[in-house]
Amino acid sequence: MYIIGKEEADAVQRVIESKKLFRYLDGDESESARFEAEWAAKIGARHAVAVTSGTAALIAALVGLGVGPGDEVIVPAYTFMATALAPLAVGAVPIIAEVDASLTLDPVDAERKITPRTRAIIPVHMVGLPSNMDALMAVARRHNVKVLEDACQADGGSYGGKRLGSIGDAGAFSFNHYKIITCGEGGVMVTDDETVYHRALVFHDGGSVFRDHASRCPFARNLVKK
Ligand SMILES: Cc1ncc(COP(=O)(O)O)c(C=O)c1O
Repeated sequence: MYIIGKEEADAVQRVIESKKLFRYLDGDESESARFEAEWAAKIGARHAVAVTSGTAALIAALVGLGVGPGDEVIVPAYTFMATALAPLAVGAVPIIAEVDASLTLDPVDAERKITPRTRAIIPVHMVGLPSNMDALMAVARRHNVKVLEDACQADGGSYGGKRLGSIGDAGAFSFNHYKIITCGEGGVMVTDDETVYHRALVFHDGGSVFRDHASRCPFARNLVKK
């Protein structure tokens, strides 16, 4: 369980006293930009987008992965409801697959549930237990579907020498009050894929194309003030 102590209180006080509460500081590095860089490095992903919750991280990642209306997304039967609500939020249909004795998504049943409409699989690393990522990645690659790791209950966990969230095509983390790390409410998505990152950026804030993030978006660079 997390502990909120003096370090956290000092960090909040620093931000309040700076009077710069916006996500973007017009060129100066904001706390959220610094956090994104540190989190991406910690998890071993190329990019991170800080958002308001784990649910928002899942939705931004699905948009980034190109999941949309009519697509099917396989989710495990044992999870928090947000894993299934995120596909619904982008107009996709959550398809429930069994968990195995590990309490995480059963790769055999996940493969059985794949149809021509399946676009993504969301393994959930429940209560810090890693899903069987070797088997699930093999299933996904066999059927050409994307993998979004729901690491909302496994901030900082690892599998086979890699951080959870960095193994699939994208990962989502939660910092809500009950999670391993908290800021009250918060979340972050990670990915190595440039296109997934740019789509998630624009989804999480339409202003990304002209605010500080714009320098990171190839399609928005020509809009940035010189
Ligand atoms: C497995 C799982 N996925 C997603 C979420 C959603 O995170 P948040 O509450 O930050 O939206 C949670 C949080 O409870 C969770 O446990």
